[in-house]
Amino acid sequence: GEDGYRLWLKYDLISDDVKRNHYLTVLGKYAVVGSSPTFEVVRQELSLASSGLLGEGQEVKEKEASLIIAAGDNAATFAKQYGIEWPKQGDDGYFIHDVGSQNQPKIFVLSKSEKGALYGTFRLLKQIQTDDVLSGINVASSPKVQLRVLNHWDNLDGHVERGYAGRSIWNWHKLPGYIDQRYVDYARANASIGINGTVLNNVNADPLMLTPAYLQKVRALADLFRPYGIQVYLSVKFSSPQLLGGLETSDPLEPGVQKWWREKVSEIYKTIPDFGGFLVKANSEGQPGPGDFGRTHAEGANMLAAALQPFDGIVMWRAFVYANEKNEERSKQAYSEFKPLDGQFANNVLVQVKNGPIDFQPREPFSPLFGATPETPLMMEFQITMEYLGFSTHMVYLGTMYEEVLESDTFAKGEGSTVAKVIDGQLFSNHITGMAGVANIGADRNWTGNIMLQSNWYVFGRMAWDPEVSAREVANDWTKMTLSHDPDTVDAVTTMLMDSHEITVNYMTPLGLHHIMGAGHHFGPAPWVDWLARDDWNSVYYHKAAEDGVGFDRSPTGVNSVEQYFPPLKELWAKPETTPEKYLLWFHHLPWDYRVSSSGRTLWNEIVHRYYQGAEDVARMAAKWNSLKEHIDPLQFEQVRMSLAIQQKEAIWWRDACVLYFMQYSQQPLPDNLEKPS
Ligand code: GCU
Repeated sequence: GEDGYRLWLKYDLISDDVKRNHYLTVLGKYAVVGSSPTFEVVRQELSLASSGLLGEGQEVKEKEASLIIAAGDNAATFAKQYGIEWPKQGDDGYFIHDVGSQNQPKIFVLSKSEKGALYGTFRLLKQIQTDDVLSGINVASSPKVQLRVLNHWDNLDGHVERGYAGRSIWNWHKLPGYIDQRYVDYARANASIGINGTVLNNVNADPLMLTPAYLQKVRALADLFRPYGIQVYLSVKFSSPQLLGGLETSDPLEPGVQKWWREKVSEIYKTIPDFGGFLVKANSEGQPGPGDFGRTHAEGANMLAAALQPFDGIVMWRAFVYANEKNEERSKQAYSEFKPLDGQFANNVLVQVKNGPIDFQPREPFSPLFGATPETPLMMEFQITMEYLGFSTHMVYLGTMYEEVLESDTFAKGEGSTVAKVIDGQLFSNHITGMAGVANIGADRNWTGNIMLQSNWYVFGRMAWDPEVSAREVANDWTKMTLSHDPDTVDAVTTMLMDSHEITVNYMTPLGLHHIMGAGHHFGPAPWVDWLARDDWNSVYYHKAAEDGVGFDRSPTGVNSVEQYFPPLKELWAKPETTPEKYLLWFHHLPWDYRVSSSGRTLWNEIVHRYYQGAEDVARMAAKWNSLKEHIDPLQFEQVRMSLAIQQKEAIWWRDACVLYFMQYSQQPLPDNLEKPS
């Protein structure tokens, strides 16, 4: 059976003869024009795919080929020779075009770069994997975002911070000598969705990463990933000059510190000539940073940027900063810290901002920093791993959540200034753009702890390539490539995926509630947590349930975080009546008998309703899944069935815990028709 190892690149034999014969007319005879490590990868993939999908297929001479992959000058020559009008596009874009006839297609995959040709090859294969016709194909695509990067929160001891799919896939002990096949398959999977960068280690960085022995290990991975178009980056600890170099300070304005970084960086580039750069978590949750020496984030980032600049390296400087001593409400701190620094960052710095102002909650409004820094390129940081969303037993497709964030209008330059347009650089014409996703990958056979959660790695890549692609289209593609070709099954699974996030928000944190999960580990409900050292780690701080009502007043009568948004949002979100219901209790503290406009229910009844609805919807999803048994590989079917059964129990756990907890404050009963909490 299928255990999920092959992800969305399964290439199982197509059983329908008509379809297989159609694809055979193209993929049966291919020519890859040129030889290079990247084109070797293209060859291998075409060989694997054709023998898998069709049971046959081979590389032939150009003239006999019905599929031709070419890059650079060769591609230009073909375009000329066959009169192909190639739309203008960037280096990593591709153009797939059929110059043949209905019965005998002749398809070119053309790109300026080999990397683009590799992306185009995977795009062509997707056409087959998703049962689309090949004859007449005419697809042009270019990445809209330059840096499409996974962030691994992997520690050197093999533990993955917030990882729920087993140990780290990086076997530091056996590197550099031993290359696990998994590294190759990781690279293939990433290249297939356009991911072109990977930060190998945790943002809570171990300084050992920069020692010569580890750099040799990093080099082995970088060498392996290079033909797949993937650059390697490292998270660094800001105090490395002290910890590794024995210096007395890590003050970014100290010449000795600057020299230490310059030398370290040139050592890295000697080892890894196309090294990508650094990711930095500084002055956040106890990590050292420029603030320790009275310097700003810009001064810290620019010091590293200066060391990297001669090698075209970049700095991804995180905006996830908050501290108790700041005496400002947590959701406001990143904006307060970074907005005034706009214009002060060096050219090769991006500020990496989490999608929401707190921390990867099941749902948050977008961070007010998006749109607020015209001079500073902002990189999106999404979480792919399910820290606050039930680890790997809850099936939550994040495509709709990413889409909701990316579609949000910041109004920074009037209507239509979406977060997507900030990120892809359209809004402020940024010279450098990026999107990062905190990986959900581990050493489990199925990579992500739950086959369904592979869809989140997949959709992250697709949305980094095109922040405006639809979550539904991606869900549909993924389902066909991973689970089934039966049209009803594909529809049913796509619908499950599309509904799954809203369902989870309902049974975890409806109506804008947030951060009410278990203390520290963040699993399961714990709205009662009130004992942690910092106020802003405690659940009670976030929901503020009391007899007078529930919710966090971030309107002008409260901490006024709405002021950080552009008009008209700051006015709209200042009042509960004009705040989207999904953010209601994020921005407002409201009485239990407040009328929720969409339903006319009281706030108490609406909260109860959402928790019950969410739990019921999970049961419905589980039943739906069970009805698909005939159409899904038995092993995949069974794995998902078991986790849905767990999710069903845990949704009820969430429902009962939260409803009973809030009830002591609302002092109101449950509506009669509901099953009582157990
Ligand atoms: C969250 C998460 C931490 C992580 C941090 C970060 O707080 O719980 O494990 O280190 O985010 O993004 O830096």
